[in-house]
Amino acid sequence: MTAKTICVLGGTGFVGHQLISKLTRAGYYVIAPSRNRERHRSLQVLPKVDVIDADIHDEETLNALFVGCHAVINLTAILNENKRGEFKKVHVELVEKIINACQNAGVTRLLHMSAINADAAKGSSQYLRSKGEGEALALTAEGLNVTTFRPSVIFGKDDSFFNKFAELLLNLPVLPLTCPGSRMAPIYVSDVTEVMVKALNDRSTFGHSYDLCGPKSYTLE
Ligand SMILES: NC(=O)c1ccc[n+]([C@@H]2O[C@H](COP(=O)([O-])OP(=O)(O)OC[C@H]3O[C@@H](n4cnc5c(N)ncnc54)[C@H](OP(=O)(O)O)[C@@H]3O)[C@@H](O)[C@H]2O)c1
Repeated sequence: MTAKTICVLGGTGFVGHQLISKLTRAGYYVIAPSRNRERHRSLQVLPKVDVIDADIHDEETLNALFVGCHAVINLTAILNENKRGEFKKVHVELVEKIINACQNAGVTRLLHMSAINADAAKGSSQYLRSKGEGEALALTAEGLNVTTFRPSVIFGKDDSFFNKFAELLLNLPVLPLTCPGSRMAPIYVSDVTEVMVKALNDRSTFGHSYDLCGPKSYTLE
């Protein structure tokens, strides 16, 4: 039997590394498009993983990538805009293109990564509003079995959030916090990726959205 292929968009990032290695251990073959595959040699050495240079914002490229795939997983996101309009491009327009390409290529299963408190209307930041808009598009896509995930901050060996704060705490005498009372329930990256792999073929998750939180809630302070 040939392995089923999963296309993981944004698979070269922090969550993607973990997810892809779990997918390969579960027997899947993975295609991971990147803007620059050379930066991701640690993924390239994994068996059954194809990291390829591709512009995923190009619709023809997406169509071609998805042909023959069992499922598509979208992890692509940015935390900050370098250029005005980037949140919309990556979190909303790309989701529209992914949905169209799934429909064109005959892919019926999509896992989409959103974020806790993402909400197109009420999100507290542009990041969360654009993530909310993209998630709503995914959940209402026609002909697609979609599951979305809404994690709190994710921690793990290579995370950017806790490692960044640890670096600052080591190097600054005082660390000013803009929102010390912000609440979060950090979740371990391995738990997030395990849930995603389990959901892939679980029909009971079709059309559902899951908040993913760790067992304890903390303030930023
Ligand atoms: N990490 C967290 O604490 C956290 C919490 C809540 C939700 N999430 C969500 O979880 C998902 C994965 O997060 P992560 O921490 O793994 O992110 P990450 O490490 O920043 O990885 C994101 C990936 O997206 C790709 N990407 C970024 N900008 C792009 C662009 N303009 N065009 C095309 N591709 C682009 C990059 O791939 P290339 O550079 O190879 O092209 C990168 O590897 C995201 O949807 C994020 O919103 C994360």
